[in-house]
Amino acid sequence: MALSKPAATSADVGLVGLAVMGQNLVLNMADHGFKVAVYNRTTATTERFVADNPPAVFGDTGGGLVPAADLRDFVASLKRPRRIVILVKAGGPTDAVIDSLVPLLDKGDVVVDGGNALFTDTMRREKALGEKGLLFVGSGVSGGEEGARFGPSLMPGGRREAWALLEPIWVACAAKVDAKTGKPIEGARPGKPVQGGVPCTTYIGPGGAGHYVKMVHNGIEYADMQLICESYDILRHAKGLSPEAISKVMREWNQGDLDSFLIEISADVLQQRDPVTGAPFVDVVLDAAGQKGTGKWTSVNALDLGVPTGSIAEAVFARCISALKDERVRASAVLKGPTAPSPLEISVDAVRDALYCSKLCAYAQGFALYTAASKEYGWNLDLGAIAQIFRGGCIIRARFLQKITEAYQRQPALENLLLDPYFAAQVEKAQANWRSVVAKAALDGVPAPAFSSALSYFDSYRRKTLPANLLQAQRDYFGAHTYERVDRPRGEFFHVDWPDSKRPELKASELGMSR
Ligand code: 6PG
Repeated sequence: MALSKPAATSADVGLVGLAVMGQNLVLNMADHGFKVAVYNRTTATTERFVADNPPAVFGDTGGGLVPAADLRDFVASLKRPRRIVILVKAGGPTDAVIDSLVPLLDKGDVVVDGGNALFTDTMRREKALGEKGLLFVGSGVSGGEEGARFGPSLMPGGRREAWALLEPIWVACAAKVDAKTGKPIEGARPGKPVQGGVPCTTYIGPGGAGHYVKMVHNGIEYADMQLICESYDILRHAKGLSPEAISKVMREWNQGDLDSFLIEISADVLQQRDPVTGAPFVDVVLDAAGQKGTGKWTSVNALDLGVPTGSIAEAVFARCISALKDERVRASAVLKGPTAPSPLEISVDAVRDALYCSKLCAYAQGFALYTAASKEYGWNLDLGAIAQIFRGGCIIRARFLQKITEAYQRQPALENLLLDPYFAAQVEKAQANWRSVVAKAALDGVPAPAFSSALSYFDSYRRKTLPANLLQAQRDYFGAHTYERVDRPRGEFFHVDWPDSKRPELKASELGMSR
C-alpha cells in the first residue's frame, strides 16, 4: 500500500523511528486519543505498520496514525507548535535524524529524544537546538517493548516550557500506579488503557537530567540483574537446586519484599525448557553477556564524580568477564578452585536475605550518585519523585521502590538509603545471613562479585575507621602527597620528611609537622 500525502496539521504528535519500541509507543499514544504522525527511513516499514494497525484498532479512542513517506510531509502534518519524538539508535543515528529535521522546524517546536542517549550528548543537542529557537527534551523511556506499548516509566529532562508541551502526552502514556499502595495498575489492552492512578513520569530537571536518571536506572538494573544471577548460581552450585526448584524459590520470593519485575521474569526463565533439546532453557543459553553501554556510562560517571558504586561497576565487569568465554574455558583447565564443598551450610532464606541487602546497597549507590550529580550539574533532582516514577513501568519496578519513596518522604535530604530507619533495621536483621552467603560463595569458589562488593560497601560505609590512614601515610612517604591528622581540624595538611630505610624510626623532633 503506497502512502498518500497526509493532510497538513492533522496530527497531535509525531514519531520518527518505527522499530519495535517506536511502534509500541505510537500505539500507546494513539490508544490515549492522540493522532500520531509516523515516519521511518524505510517507507516499507511505515506501510506495514499502518496496514497492521487500521483505524478500527483504535476504535472510539479518537487516536490514530498519520503516516508519511517523506520527512517534509511528516513535519507538515503536525499541529504547531510541533511535538516530535525520536526513537532511533543512540549516538550517530540520533544526530542524523535531528540534523534532517531541524531545517524543517519552526521556533518553539519541540524535539524529544526517547532513546538511551548519553546525557552529555543530550546537553549538547539541547544547546544546539536552543540556539536555533527549538526546544529539546531528552527523555528516558524504560520498560522494554511491553512498557512502551502499555505504560513505560518516562524520565523527561529539558527546559520547563519544552516539558509543558510534552506533558499531556507523557502523563497519558506513562504507566500508572495505585496512589495508596504504589502498586502498578495492570490490565491495559489495545484500545483500552488503564484509567486513573499516579503516572510514572515527572519533570526530572534541566538539560541532560532525564537521560542521566535513565542511565543510572540502567546501572541499577545491571546490578539488580547480576545479583539475581548470583543468587541463582549460589542456589544451584552451592545448594544443589535445579533451575525448576530455583524458579519456585523465586516465585516465593516474589510474594515478599523482593517482589519485582526482574524476579518474576527470572522465575519464568528458570522454569522454561528448551523446545529443541528439552533441557532447562538456561542450560542452552551461552553464558556470554552483551551490553549496550549504559551500565558502563554509569560507572564511568561515578568514577568522575568520586561516588562509590562498586556493585554497579562489578555488574558491568561481571558481564565483561562472562564475555571472555573462550579464555575462561582455557583457564578452567589450568586454574583449580576448592575440591570439595565447604561444610558451611546456608539456607535458601539466607540467599534471599543476601539478595535483599545487596540490592539495597546497589540502590543506595545509585541514589547517592543522583545526589552527587544533582549538585555537580545543578539539577536539583527530587530523589523521592524519581523513586516514585520507578514504581511502575520500568525494568527495575519493585515493591521495594515504595519503601524508597517513603524513605525520601520521611527525609527528603536523606544522605544514604542505608541510613533510613526502615532499611537500617532490615539490614540489621538480615546481615548475618548475608555474611554467611558471601562466605559460602568464597569457600566453595562460586563467584559472587556483586554480593561481596555490596557487603564491602556496607562494611566500609558503617565503619568509623578505614585503613586509609596507612594509605595516606604511604602516599606521603613516596610522593610527599601530605596527610591530615586525627588531632587537627580537617583541611590542614602535613608532611613528614621520611628518613631513609636505614633509620626507620622517626624521632619526635623529625615528626615536626611541616605544612
Ligand atoms: C529499560 C532497559 C532498556 C534496555 C537497555 C539495557 O529500561 O527499558 O534498560 O533501556 O534493556 O538498553 O540494555 P543492555 O543490557 O543491552 O545494556
